[in-house]
Amino acid sequence: MMLKFTNRQVRVLVLVPLAVLAVSAAAYLALGSPALLLPPVLMGAFVIWMLMDMRHHHWDLFHRDVMEQRAIFAQLEAIIGLNATLKPKYPFPGTRGWTASPDLLREVVTHVLHQAPALTVEASSGTSTLMIAYALERNGAGHVVALEHDAEYAGRTRELIGMHGLDHRATIVLAPLVKQRVGDTEMTWYDLGQVRLDVPIDLLVVDGPPEGTGSMARYPAVPLLRSRFAPGARVILDDGDRADERAIAERWKQEFKASSCDHLALEKGAWSLRF
Ligand SMILES: C[S@@+](CC[C@H](N)C(=O)[O-])C[C@H]1O[C@@H](n2cnc3c(N)ncnc32)[C@H](O)[C@@H]1O
Repeated sequence: MMLKFTNRQVRVLVLVPLAVLAVSAAAYLALGSPALLLPPVLMGAFVIWMLMDMRHHHWDLFHRDVMEQRAIFAQLEAIIGLNATLKPKYPFPGTRGWTASPDLLREVVTHVLHQAPALTVEASSGTSTLMIAYALERNGAGHVVALEHDAEYAGRTRELIGMHGLDHRATIVLAPLVKQRVGDTEMTWYDLGQVRLDVPIDLLVVDGPPEGTGSMARYPAVPLLRSRFAPGARVILDDGDRADERAIAERWKQEFKASSCDHLALEKGAWSLRF
């Protein structure tokens, strides 16, 4: 293995021998020949410290590599499972960046296949809408209504759903973000004016609005839709490791008496609540 030194190690490698020389010279002037023992002792101690430090550094790098490989493997496992289960007509779009991560999508799709929700509502739209629509199609029943504030993304998701022949399973509603009353305060959330929900909501997947639209941007989802929940409805909140999302899950649990509230240890973290 090629030895690579960190900047700190290079500085130490230059400065410590110089310091040893200076200390030894001063000691020789003061003590005479007994001071000749100092350089080998000090340099020996330095070499031992240096070797241990390098070993720690390489162990840290190795550990980080292993953790990264495990994380990548976990997402590959999830996306392979989704493809094998849903068997899409065309390949699914990529699932990095803005899209929900494969492990969150697997959680949602597994729930849809297992619990067969009649109505799923999504706050945001995209690949997640497509996968939910596929799962509903496999069930042979159910519909997903996705709220999308951005006309461009609403168009893209509609096109995607149409291309896969799943228009009868998914409706993308262009719902701009508007100021509205949420409890005692005014907050910005999807305009529900054009949203038709014919049956109670069994599953609510909250992956929008994006963080940049304001603090606690996703909080209004439950206050504004709670009255439409079916008994035992489940809410899945993505990006659960962010401070805002932790606070949102806690507030939903306290203020709306969730029967359970669990953190899911996924790539971006998530919260699962039951009402
Ligand atoms: C976190 S994304 C939701 C993604 C969706 N749940 C999925 O899995 O595909 C939230 C919102 O960001 C917007 N968005 C999606 N992709 C984007 C991109 N590449 N750049 C900027 N905004 C994007 C859309 O308005 C979307 O509803």
